[in-house]
Amino acid sequence: MVKSLKNIISVVLISGALFGTSASAQQLTKLTLRLDQQGVPASPMLYGLMTEEINYAYDGGIYAELIRNRSFKDNYKNPDHWTLIKSDADSSEIALDNKHPVNEALTISLRLHQKADGKHTALANDGFWGIPVLPSTLYKGSFYAMTDNSSAGPVTVSIESTDGKTIFATADVSGLAGSWKKFTFKFFTTASAVPTAATRFVIRPPGKGNYWFTLVSLFPPTYVNTANGNRRDIMQLLAAMHPEFLRLPGGNYLEGGMFSTRYNWKKTLGPIDHRPGHQGTWGYRSSDGMGLLEYLEWCEDLKMEPLLAVFAGYTLNHDYVEAGPLLQPYVEEALEEIEYVTGDTSTTYGRERARDGHPAPFPLHYVEVGNEDGFDMSGSYNGRFAQFFDAIRAKYPDLKIISTMGGKDFLGQRFPLTKRIPDVIDEHYYRSAYDMESDAGHYDNYDRSGPRIFVGEWATREGKPTPNFNSALGDAAWMTGMERNSDLVVMSCSAPLFVNVNPGGMQWESDLIGYNTLTSYGSPSYYAQQMFSNYRGNEVVSIVGEGIPIKLQVLSHKDSLNKVVPKTYPSLFYVATRDTKNGRLYIKVVNAGSSAREVAIDLNRVTFVNSKGKIVMMQADKPEDTNTITEPKKIFPVVSTYTGFKRSFSYNFPKYSISILQIDTK
Ligand code: AHR
Repeated sequence: MVKSLKNIISVVLISGALFGTSASAQQLTKLTLRLDQQGVPASPMLYGLMTEEINYAYDGGIYAELIRNRSFKDNYKNPDHWTLIKSDADSSEIALDNKHPVNEALTISLRLHQKADGKHTALANDGFWGIPVLPSTLYKGSFYAMTDNSSAGPVTVSIESTDGKTIFATADVSGLAGSWKKFTFKFFTTASAVPTAATRFVIRPPGKGNYWFTLVSLFPPTYVNTANGNRRDIMQLLAAMHPEFLRLPGGNYLEGGMFSTRYNWKKTLGPIDHRPGHQGTWGYRSSDGMGLLEYLEWCEDLKMEPLLAVFAGYTLNHDYVEAGPLLQPYVEEALEEIEYVTGDTSTTYGRERARDGHPAPFPLHYVEVGNEDGFDMSGSYNGRFAQFFDAIRAKYPDLKIISTMGGKDFLGQRFPLTKRIPDVIDEHYYRSAYDMESDAGHYDNYDRSGPRIFVGEWATREGKPTPNFNSALGDAAWMTGMERNSDLVVMSCSAPLFVNVNPGGMQWESDLIGYNTLTSYGSPSYYAQQMFSNYRGNEVVSIVGEGIPIKLQVLSHKDSLNKVVPKTYPSLFYVATRDTKNGRLYIKVVNAGSSAREVAIDLNRVTFVNSKGKIVMMQADKPEDTNTITEPKKIFPVVSTYTGFKRSFSYNFPKYSISILQIDTK
């Protein structure tokens, strides 16, 4: 949460690197693809996802649980998000109770002292900005309960409108007794139910008595019906990106505000009944329903692999453990975590994973040690990284080890790593569109002899809650640079991934995917990333750009942020890759400027070009245009057939556009 350095004024000189070469800046008029030359390999892992609990990403986001504050730990003084429904004449009361723990994790319950007869007194949970009601939907729920009035009859559970006048789904739960028991129930909405979130979940006891409840849980159908799983609409948006990996579990969320609130993966395992939850780093508590196994199953469901970040002994309040014996328990914990992910069932933690329901190991190739350790002003990361590196390398020699420092971004430069050379360095960039575009050639002349690069967090931050089209243009320009250099930049993932757009849902502006209780949408940046991920080959094609020299412009980050900078600087960005198996070419061109640009494209170094191919194009009238929860597809990519491809042809790239030309060659 140390954000000040993020906003540092970084004067970015606009150089010829804009065009993927170090030639001087120019207004592009011609692209010659050197199809006779063998290009560098394009990284198959280039596009992935980054995740953490921020902006109600899990609770109230992708994790499909509908009950908020299900274990009553969000506030030790009040049952937040729970209310008592009663008439004025009814003196019934509710209170948090810590005298009747279910187990070591479920230590708090809600006690209802019902003083009125009949089912007029009830408990209501307002969910995460309501409980989503959709037609013909099966909801499955559960809770722990007990009562001192076990002869009273069943408890009724329901989803109802906030005024209580409409019942959308209901069921009875019988058998409450004098000690804790877990109950399950299910109910359906009707086919005629009109989607709404102006709702609440209600528990109505049968009559007078004391009733205790905890771990009250309710799930809608989840993606591929995974138990304790994820919201379908959000998973479908992610699936459409075809991500290669998921960087988990953070971000700041990995580090924790202090040692006691770091991401302690062992406390996120097993049935949700045994997960205590913990205070997250973005101002609210996490249920840990999204535990380590759920992250891994999320990867499995989307056919991506985990990129596991392990806690490295440094927390956001700048507390750290020096390398040496005191750090060793954390190193052991990281090794055990890797074993939980990858070990077979003959290993201790592989067995534990099997007990948790997943006997098969998960694929894992990359492990990251910490997060943004450049903020650790003590410089302790050099030693901490070495200790983790040695232990991981010794036990898992095939794993690639990622450091969070040591690269050329400003965080990396402050405390260079001298003790161990990482396989990969994680660099982060949060910028304006201008910064992204003017630095799109960032990796063009990077040192190829050192570690590979993982751009583990990056984003153009214009527009909120989700980025606008100017951000998408900045993102796309930046992606041309990463893809062109993907022999070096082996992986990338933008951040943050999610935002709940309900009031109070956002802690960090400009997030890739937005949602409310009922629906979700992709920002223009989401679609730009989807385009780049879905259309690419396995080899980068070398390109020579020709154009008219132009005058350069210099702006500070501050001056460029959230402004549409007049595009007097070169505003066309490009990259091409090809599939060496079938000769298919993907030419990506970003026109970030305010006028259309005609570019001659020379493919003369191949013998055959199929005139019929495909164009994927996303465009906006104005850079400030955007998608919202109410207008989710104002901007999105359109796929069309094109019949004018030749060995030499001209193409007019519209103003403010991102285009992919898919061309078959031999
Ligand atoms: O993406 C938001 C935050 O930015 C991440 O948690 C952190 O790693 C970075 O500072």
